[in-house]
Amino acid sequence: MSAVPHHVAIVMDGNGRWASRRFLPRIAGHRQGVESLRRCVRLCVERGIAVLTVFAFSSENWNRPAEEVSGLMELLAKALAREVPQLHADGVRLHFAGERRGLSDKVRRGLDEAERATAGNQRLVLNVCFNYGGRWDIAQAAQALAERGEPITEEALNRAMALAHVPDPDLLIRTGGEQRISNFLLWQAAYSELFFSDRLWPDFDAAALDEALACFARRERRFGQTSAQVAAALAPPPARAATAAALASQV
Ligand code: IPE
Ligand code: IPE
Ligand code: MG
Repeated sequence: MSAVPHHVAIVMDGNGRWASRRFLPRIAGHRQGVESLRRCVRLCVERGIAVLTVFAFSSENWNRPAEEVSGLMELLAKALAREVPQLHADGVRLHFAGERRGLSDKVRRGLDEAERATAGNQRLVLNVCFNYGGRWDIAQAAQALAERGEPITEEALNRAMALAHVPDPDLLIRTGGEQRISNFLLWQAAYSELFFSDRLWPDFDAAALDEALACFARRERRFGQTSAQVAAALAPPPARAATAAALASQV
């Protein structure tokens, strides 16, 4: 098993506090959050991570002041227009997960176009969870199966969920100091390793990501097995172990 996670998911939290500490409006923190995401995408490519899933706007974030909500919608539309060409050039495939019905036509068109333009890219899959909730995802998947008259099994639900195109996250990071899931990948994070960082999202730099990756590399993932079983599965096959011992005794 590789020490580098295949799929990293991040709750990008702390933009508002980043702005407040500078006596700036909250939207300035969200703007800085986009910069931090751009840096994080580049770092993930450099570290060999294949899938990055970020939480950008939750089902519950509609409850924020109207001005902040409209500011976030505008920021998404602008970020799409500005960032997609470079992301495409860098081989990033964009995918949006979440309920699109609540979004304006303009934003919806932007999401569709970004997905279409980057569909053939293979270097990194970037899933942006926008108007997303883990409960919404489970319910919409169950509803889709019910409408098709399909039995509701774990495999069928997996196939109907918003991240069906990627394996489950190996590492789930939350920035901003809170230690909660806040309705993120409730289903898919069943066996993710959790890492909580005190850094506010705009300050989440290379050193902060590397700290999370180093911590991940030290974890033992057991998936319900015992530690001894995991060690046995990781050990080299006996023949190769014997060869290695013979070689070692010659030096
Ligand atoms: C996360 O930052 C971004 C969104 C939820 C859109 P916050 O806006 O929640 O920042 P804090 O937690 O108030 O600092
Ligand atoms: C979670 O952050 C959602 C996103 C980062 C998009 P929140 O700031 O909304 O979470 P709570 O409300 O503190 O749990
Ligand atoms: Mg927050």
